[in-house]
Amino acid sequence: MKITRYPPTKNKSLRAWSAADEYILKVLSRMEISGKNIVICNDRFGYLATHLHQHGPYSVIAYKSQKTSLLMNLQNNGIQPDHEKLLNPLEPVPVAIDVGLMIVPKSLELFRFYLQYLHRFLKEGGTVVCGFMTRHFTTQILSLAGACFEEVDQSLAWKKSRVLILKGKKPDPGYELTETIPYIFSDGIWQDIIQYSGVFSSGNIDYATQFLLDHLFLQQDENIILDLGCGNGVIARAIQLKKPNAELHLLDDFFLAIESSRQNLQPENVHFHWSDSVDDIGNVRFDLAVSNPPFHFEHEVNTEVSINLFREVAGKLKPGGRFLCVANKHLGYQSSLKKFFTTCNVLAESNKYIIYECIKGVFTS
Ligand SMILES: C[S@@+](CC[C@H](N)C(=O)[O-])C[C@H]1O[C@@H](n2cnc3c(N)ncnc32)[C@H](O)[C@@H]1O
Repeated sequence: MKITRYPPTKNKSLRAWSAADEYILKVLSRMEISGKNIVICNDRFGYLATHLHQHGPYSVIAYKSQKTSLLMNLQNNGIQPDHEKLLNPLEPVPVAIDVGLMIVPKSLELFRFYLQYLHRFLKEGGTVVCGFMTRHFTTQILSLAGACFEEVDQSLAWKKSRVLILKGKKPDPGYELTETIPYIFSDGIWQDIIQYSGVFSSGNIDYATQFLLDHLFLQQDENIILDLGCGNGVIARAIQLKKPNAELHLLDDFFLAIESSRQNLQPENVHFHWSDSVDDIGNVRFDLAVSNPPFHFEHEVNTEVSINLFREVAGKLKPGGRFLCVANKHLGYQSSLKKFFTTCNVLAESNKYIIYECIKGVFTS
């Protein structure tokens, strides 16, 4: 099998799978899985689903980029995808699961979410196998698994990875799928921000986001606005409170982020895009785009995704349109931004964060 990454990366040390994926396949080779119902979670590039295709597994697809990657890898290996076997994380599994598989995500909230998901649809005698790299181990992985299952067997390390084999369903732990973050917007309006487990910045509004919100002043002629990498939609909601008639577009790669945003905004004149590319939005041209862009891909620090989004957003602004971007200072985005925008200045900075104001096209002040 040839498995590649989507989005592609220039970093040749990054692969589309880890030893944890291989370890899961090794464990499965010792189990009788033919004719069994298999469900896979957090298979970011489709390595497991492609290797197990002859068993017709279900894949839980949480990211649009994950879907693209899986379909690409199936196709590159001459395998016809079965779209009915692709589930979103809020969709029930239509069969009782014999074997659940998961690469443990970086977010422990998302791990808990997937554990509960697999647990809910697992047959009484079913098994869940979770793989992770040993360096990512925390004891919380064991305690969360132990809350759902009687037996939590941790394997020996192999190629610096481990697997957990979980058996014996305990009663449903009944975790809430969403959390509530009380927040006071700058206008003094208080709102409970709702987000699904695993959506960015559990427990509080992120400090960088807060810094951006503190410096977010909208111009009178800015009426078509994009929140890029919207997460729970808090930035778009702040804009909606300031400009209730603006046309807002929210875009995020993560399905649960988009579903969270839907709960936090008034729906009128708002468009939600589950996508990893601004180019998917169509013919809209924006007066303003705002972002606290991603710089992690699971455990990897990765700015390639953001830099690609900067290039895309520049192509979607009207002449004179603005892009406001907050980031950790050490990421040094200004040189990349200057490649795509006519001007890129610092709007505000603290000792940790910086807000860039980028303008597209001819601009007269
Ligand atoms: C730093 S978080 C910011 C979230 C939210 N705007 C906030 O301030 O709380 C970055 C967001 O970008 C999303 N993301 C990552 N890669 C993306 C991509 N290629 N396209 C769109 N969104 C992406 C992540 O899912 C995450 O929600």
